[in-house]
Amino acid sequence: MDNTATLVVNNLQTQFATRAGLVKAVDQVSFAVKRGEIMGLVGESDSGKSMTGYSIMGLVDTPGKIVGGEILLQASNLRGLSAEAMRKIRGNRIAMIFQDPMMTLNPVLRIDTQMIEAVRAHQDVSKMVAREMSREALVRVGIPSPDERLLAYPYQFSGGMRQREAIAIALLNKPDLIICDEPTPRWM
Ligand SMILES: Nc1ncnc2c1ncn2[C@@H]1O[C@H](COP(=O)(O)OP(=O)(O)O)[C@@H](O)[C@H]1O
Ligand SMILES: [Mg+2]
Repeated sequence: MDNTATLVVNNLQTQFATRAGLVKAVDQVSFAVKRGEIMGLVGESDSGKSMTGYSIMGLVDTPGKIVGGEILLQASNLRGLSAEAMRKIRGNRIAMIFQDPMMTLNPVLRIDTQMIEAVRAHQDVSKMVAREMSREALVRVGIPSPDERLLAYPYQFSGGMRQREAIAIALLNKPDLIICDEPTPRWM
């Protein structure tokens, strides 16, 4: 496979050891995504689409485990990276837009607080600069009155607006790769 691609997934296997037996959530999945390319993963419910994304993000929780294959981001293997190293990549070089925007949003923090934090987790900029970047991200996804919205909490947004907000956060650090897990924006 083309190792110069942004993302190469080779024979990925993610499994859950449950009381009812072994669930092969992702079973020998391989694909590559090049810079600028959009790839869609199609399959019936429970076929492992979400788990493929979670595996790439390093977000598979016990009893789930990646048991085989490799995940190459610009030719370097993400498998086996420490939690700390993965935190530096997640939300920075790879972002995920989850099916449920509340996977991204913190319900008890104001939007500006969480967006500024998301920027400053990966970029050495002042709060003021991070806030301006956050405002621009809201504008980019078509959120009206961004200044007011920055001061709001997630519960004050409609479902569609929360989805846009999660997309804005995913875009904040200009990731090389964005994984979308069936977000269903209501404005589409
Ligand atoms: N926490 C878990 N414990 C056991 N099995 C799980 C868990 N999470 C997901 N799975 C299983 O992994 C498989 C793939 O799920 P998923 O990736 O969510 O499918 P899709 O997104 O294609 O609908 C399913 O069989 C699902 O039941
Ligand atoms: Mg899914």
